[in-house]
Amino acid sequence: MSSLSLSAEAPSAPPAAVDGVWLECIDCGDAYAPFESVRYTCDCGSLLEVRYDELPTWDAFDGRGVWRYSAALPFEEGVSLPEGDTQFHRVPRLEDEVGVESLRIKHEGMNPTGSFKDRGMTVGVRTAQELGVGRLACASTGNTSAALAAYGARAGLETLVLLPAGKVAAGKVAQASLHGARILEVDGNFDTCLDIVQDLADRGEAYLLNSLNPFRLEGQKTIGLEILEAHKEDYGEYPDRIVLPVGNAGNTAALYKCFRELVQAGAMDRDEVPKLTGVQAAGAAPMVEAIEEGADETRRWDHVETVATAIRIGNPVNAPKALPGIRETGGTAVAVEDDAITQAQRDLAGEGVGVEPASAASLAGLRKLRERGDVADDERVVCLTTGHLLKDPDAAAAAGADPEPVPGDTAGVLDHLGS
Ligand code: F0G
Repeated sequence: MSSLSLSAEAPSAPPAAVDGVWLECIDCGDAYAPFESVRYTCDCGSLLEVRYDELPTWDAFDGRGVWRYSAALPFEEGVSLPEGDTQFHRVPRLEDEVGVESLRIKHEGMNPTGSFKDRGMTVGVRTAQELGVGRLACASTGNTSAALAAYGARAGLETLVLLPAGKVAAGKVAQASLHGARILEVDGNFDTCLDIVQDLADRGEAYLLNSLNPFRLEGQKTIGLEILEAHKEDYGEYPDRIVLPVGNAGNTAALYKCFRELVQAGAMDRDEVPKLTGVQAAGAAPMVEAIEEGADETRRWDHVETVATAIRIGNPVNAPKALPGIRETGGTAVAVEDDAITQAQRDLAGEGVGVEPASAASLAGLRKLRERGDVADDERVVCLTTGHLLKDPDAAAAAGADPEPVPGDTAGVLDHLGS
């Protein structure tokens, strides 16, 4: 049975494990010591996961934010700003409109640099310290670069980010720049940037902190833990479904790992596992294609386009971890058009929740699945919103109303308001 199955037994430590922690290939099962050398993938070419011989759960957690869950992470503490403990909004009007039993918004845009990437970076940069590496690097549609720049700065490490030229929202470039990253604007899309940065990492030029790095996903696992805890407290049960935007499918993989470890630990029944539901923009939807076709791999899309630039990705590297997650939890994947994303962004904003376009894809996807009859009336649903409205001020301004020029006197303003 695949170690990625929800029914897989809890693993036991191989000789390579150090203090009960090791890296394990999701395909061939080869194990590696976690911090002996820099390694992102298995010698067979497949993806690695961090594995533990003990899986502490709810009783072992204490404090707030990502490091509340340190018992389920490879370190006691990390390079922290601090991150996690994000809002879990009620959205009564949207809940009514969508017509499900309950709808909550987990707003990951409220992390220190405005996206969920901070959860991954607090662990990822701590890992870099453990390995004693020099320069940190990532390819990015923007948010990863902002997080890497900030956490790298905090740790006093040099950072290098590769961005697709002209396709990164203004707020994100500004963050990477001010936090001190060296920014390379690449003539190509995100997938090209990732190819290059992987080559640089393989040549020892930099330590890779994209979600291909298994340690980053450990931090992102805590999104799931926070949602489950808060949902149980409010409703006495776990959510039936979690809907999230998908780019490289790192979060999808991380949430699935969170659920799998809880099941293996005996802390959650298999039938309590939320259905993982991925949403992509129609112009960049290789994961949706793979789910619809029942494929085990995604096909690389060379031409991708969407207003949701954060998820403008044609070659989701974590697909081998995420596709089983969607399937084994009984979830699905759906593609949404840009105008539906923008409308969802407006409607979330109308509930006071300011998100960037990629984030709004989750609500747009839920709406589409409701229309299709793929989500039942009695479901309790959580939508993940991954980045803050201010990340992409141009998209927000374009989606919102235009400012109205008025004269600089009260009479003139009154006149304008009356007209
Ligand atoms: N939402 C936002 C706001 C993102 O920035 C990203 C990914 C995703 C969703 C998709 O998450 O890759 O785990 O499926 N942004 C990366 C970046 C690619 O470079 O900032 P995923």
